[in-house]
Amino acid sequence: ASQYTITHGQIHASSNRFLFSREEDSSLYFTYSGERNELEVNNLHYEVDTAAQIPWYEKLSEFKLPWEIKGSKQTAINNLSLRVCSGQMLALIGSSGCGKTSLLDIITCRGEGGTMTSGQILINGKPNTPHLVKKNIAHVRQDDCLLPHLTVRETLAFVAKLRLPTHFTQAQRDQRVDDVIAELRLRQCAHTRVGNDYVRGVSGGERRRVSIAVQLLWNPGILILDEPTSGLDSFTAHNLVITLSRLAQGNRLVLLSVHQPRSDIFQLFDLVMLLSSGSPVYFGAARHMVQYFTALGHPCPRYCNPSDFYGQCV
Ligand SMILES: Nc1ncnc2c1ncn2[C@@H]1O[C@H](COP(=O)(O)OP(=O)(O)OP(=O)(O)O)[C@@H](O)[C@H]1O
Ligand SMILES: [Mg+2]
Repeated sequence: ASQYTITHGQIHASSNRFLFSREEDSSLYFTYSGERNELEVNNLHYEVDTAAQIPWYEKLSEFKLPWEIKGSKQTAINNLSLRVCSGQMLALIGSSGCGKTSLLDIITCRGEGGTMTSGQILINGKPNTPHLVKKNIAHVRQDDCLLPHLTVRETLAFVAKLRLPTHFTQAQRDQRVDDVIAELRLRQCAHTRVGNDYVRGVSGGERRRVSIAVQLLWNPGILILDEPTSGLDSFTAHNLVITLSRLAQGNRLVLLSVHQPRSDIFQLFDLVMLLSSGSPVYFGAARHMVQYFTALGHPCPRYCNPSDFYGQCV
């Protein structure tokens, strides 16, 4: 793939894109030909009940009946509205505990231990239901749930068998697995077992990419990722966000949460939502964020990463 010409002691790569990577470009895979998707959240309020986490036997051990224990209610998300369409990548940015995972879980009907006190979530104009979510949304959660004794390729082949439509031939399924392995740069560990806390397997960053690969495999229209770049080195993280950005350009909707992204990663986002203790502080185009805060009297210092600066200010 990479071709270099040496003239007058200088190295020119034929294409910058191939300079560091020998993986083939599988651009065909990146067009999503399904319907256009739209995700809308209106005035969402979400409360978590700390007593809901206490198991019933612990409540009984306090000589109280389960309903007698009153927990404290904590607002996890407060008055949040957003709208994203296919072709856009929205990044949720905020410090730890600001409600990113909670928001993504509520959107995919996985919000446990809390209640939505008001607001609505619409997927293509319809309220979100587990059935609709399963059909349209791929959700990569913050912690990986994979079978530890399968290798990376076996994991993906297994998902390809279960998740791809029945009209796919075995050769097409294998091709899809190869494409995804190449795109997420998993070739070197394709035959290593996945592992978990007890079974040593692939590295943490590789496991993260396997979780993403599992969801990419079925070519979803909406892709939701909870901290996909955590645990990755900056080069791999940047490459991963470039992949996600290309997926978004291929007519998909990408929603991801990130902790203080680097400035080169920040530039790749179309839309940004900055959260502070569950309340949105900014929602809009990534390139207008600095202007917005500057107009409010908070300019970003020169040579400072805006997501670092505003992330720690709010
Ligand atoms: N089921 C629950 N029970 C009790 N508290 C909860 C529950 N779900 C969320 N919370 C609280 O809501 C807040 C937001 O949690 P959340 O997991 O969404 O944060 P986060 O932004 O994803 O953080 P991180 O970046 O560390 O993953 C936290 O203060 C958390 O303790
Ligand atoms: Mg989280």
